[in-house]
Amino acid sequence: MTRLTGNIDLTESLVSGSKEVILETQGLTRYFGKAVAVDNLSITVEQGEVFGLLGPNGAGKSTAIKMLTTLLPLSAGRATIAGYDVTHQAAEVRRLLGYVPQALSADGSLTGYENLLIFAKLYDIPRNRRERSIREVLDFMGLQAAAHRLVRNYSGGMIRKLEIAQSIMHQPKILFLDEPTVGLDPIARSQVWQLVQQLRLDYGTTIFLTTHFLEEADNLCTQVAIMQQGKIAIAGLPSDLKAALNQPNATLDDVFIHYTGDQLTSGVNYSDTARTRRTAKRLG
Ligand SMILES: Nc1ncnc2c1ncn2[C@@H]1O[C@H](COP(=O)(O)OP(=O)(O)OP(=O)(O)O)[C@@H](O)[C@H]1O
Ligand SMILES: [Mg+2]
Repeated sequence: MTRLTGNIDLTESLVSGSKEVILETQGLTRYFGKAVAVDNLSITVEQGEVFGLLGPNGAGKSTAIKMLTTLLPLSAGRATIAGYDVTHQAAEVRRLLGYVPQALSADGSLTGYENLLIFAKLYDIPRNRRERSIREVLDFMGLQAAAHRLVRNYSGGMIRKLEIAQSIMHQPKILFLDEPTVGLDPIARSQVWQLVQQLRLDYGTTIFLTTHFLEEADNLCTQVAIMQQGKIAIAGLPSDLKAALNQPNATLDDVFIHYTGDQLTSGVNYSDTARTRRTAKRLG
């Protein structure tokens, strides 16, 4: 695994233990018509954290991420990334973040290399540095051997790795991953989480993720917030949330159920199933 070039300042600040606030929201709110999807969300994330936004289907997680990544206007409240306002300084904010959306977004009719080249151009990576950047991210994600294969022939795990590779080409300070491991087998999931952890440890990249795999969130996240119907029901260190239940051997699943009802017992949910079907269709 090679190191990505640059980002030395981030690594140094991680090592020195300085705690820069990288993301802050105050009263972040989004309505769709009269329905509130995100309701007065106030959170703070420090540089180098892995922040897990958890919650049942429809809780408002993706909507929150879309506002934080400047893709959706806020109905009320404010949010900043590294001090830049997502509404009024959207261009600066976009330069600082990477985003992997919930639905698969890589183009199946292109090769992995071609998908990455599009992102290199999108991120304004100078022509004479593009090849090196592509090689570095392919290397980092372990995709070198598949670089010139059509993405429609990739496995789900390889596509997710490619999408993460796309999203880190410009070395973002904060990476938003909306359900990066949905539909992946346990081995592919664990590989994706290892790479995420590596990004954080090697480069100090802050990670903001959503997932329905609570055991994995427990292992990976430095802070979690559980959302329910647009509001934060509870937030904190996973260990503190488990301890507060006063229940021997409590898991994050127990915390989730405590604050959201018995949503976990439904097993495979409709949106996961629909997504898996869409993915299968796209990949032929
Ligand atoms: N473009 C839209 N128009 C109208 N309603 C929307 C739109 N996008 C999301 N919603 C609604 O907002 C609410 C929150 O949706 P969101 O996708 O943010 O949930 P989520 O927590 O990401 O769920 P999941 O775990 O299923 O991905 C839902 O009630 C959803 O139907
Ligand atoms: Mg979602």
